Amino acid sequence: MYLTSEEEKALDGEFGTAVQTAMKILVTIGDIFEADRLIPVSSVHMPGSSVVVSGRAGAKFVRRMADEGGLFRVLTTLNPAATDLEMWREMGVPEEVYREQLELTEAYRRMGAVDVHTCIPYLAGNTPAYGSDVAWGESSAVVYANSILGARTNREGGPSALASAVAGRTPRYGMHLEENRVPTVRVRVGAEVEGVEAYGSLGYYVGGVAEDGVPFIEGLPRGVWIDELKMLSAALATSGAVPMFHAPGITPEASLKVVREAVEGLEVVEVGHGELREVREKLCTADAGDVSAVCVGCPHASVSEALSVLRTLGNRKANLMFWIFTSTHVKHVLKRMGVLTKMSSLGVQILCDTCPILAPMKDISESLGVDAVATNSAKLAHYLNSKYGIKTFYGSLERCVEVAVSGGRR
Ligand code: F3S
Repeated sequence: MYLTSEEEKALDGEFGTAVQTAMKILVTIGDIFEADRLIPVSSVHMPGSSVVVSGRAGAKFVRRMADEGGLFRVLTTLNPAATDLEMWREMGVPEEVYREQLELTEAYRRMGAVDVHTCIPYLAGNTPAYGSDVAWGESSAVVYANSILGARTNREGGPSALASAVAGRTPRYGMHLEENRVPTVRVRVGAEVEGVEAYGSLGYYVGGVAEDGVPFIEGLPRGVWIDELKMLSAALATSGAVPMFHAPGITPEASLKVVREAVEGLEVVEVGHGELREVREKLCTADAGDVSAVCVGCPHASVSEALSVLRTLGNRKANLMFWIFTSTHVKHVLKRMGVLTKMSSLGVQILCDTCPILAPMKDISESLGVDAVATNSAKLAHYLNSKYGIKTFYGSLERCVEVAVSGGRR
């Protein structure tokens, strides 16, 4: 792989040990994927920001980079942590996990990370421009960045994202190359798709068909909302390893000549009500009457999603634990709007900086007695079932709210 003279110096250790380590990681990855050179990135989104994901060895590596003077050269945001950094007791997170998380977060802060743990960095100030190269982790954010923003990123792991943040570069391969961004499967949506849960079901079905390819999805309405698009992005990367999608009239690259030409020769996969029902039946593994908690906000809830919970509840009270996972940005806005108090009086708790999958869910479920969860997120339903053996009632926000009001297993 070609390196500039400055990159050679960095690799030789002229700019310090942390930069040298970062360069070694990037050069190794570049060689594996046969990248021709390194390219500058305008931002990084860091996966492995939860101690549950990084493990002790990963957290130690991050601390070592900080101790060796590593500094982030580009805007770097953090993915969700293992706990709400303030409400860890209420979440049932063991103190040891909280303390380890604080140390990891502190190491990232020392290197200059933007102090927000969220999987929707594009709604928290990390919003790359069309065509820019970035190094992001977190599969749902990667699909969103490539597809909706038209930025270019591979799905980075913890070490490579950390290396890119310190070196300000990434190897040029994969989704940074135009030829890998063309459609590989053509999908025609015949069903009416509306609401976050429906977009999750659609994404989950299409992800299973596309696997690690790039779907071209026709038939989506132009008025599709950002909350629906982030759920679609998350679900595509849950049942499959989709890095991006195209949707005419919605995503910026769908109208490019190279994309239009590539789609012409592809076989069409039809998705109708039957396929969406199939997903719902697969992900809905619990009866409403068995549910002990409701979780909304996977991916993290936007302000509009949080407000729609309140609107759907009206003046009814949740008679089960009702959690909305989101960023500190969103919580702050809700507080300023004066709705936090109202939410808490209705039994809805806003949790920040974390998510149920990146938290120590086994400990939490044991401590709070959560064994079946209602959610409108296909991604959350998939991982609660497959990773933690927690059953899910999967349905629209309206249905989840009904479950909360009626009291589930109470
Ligand atoms: Fe975000 Fe966690 Fe879901 S990282 S997409 S809330 S699994």
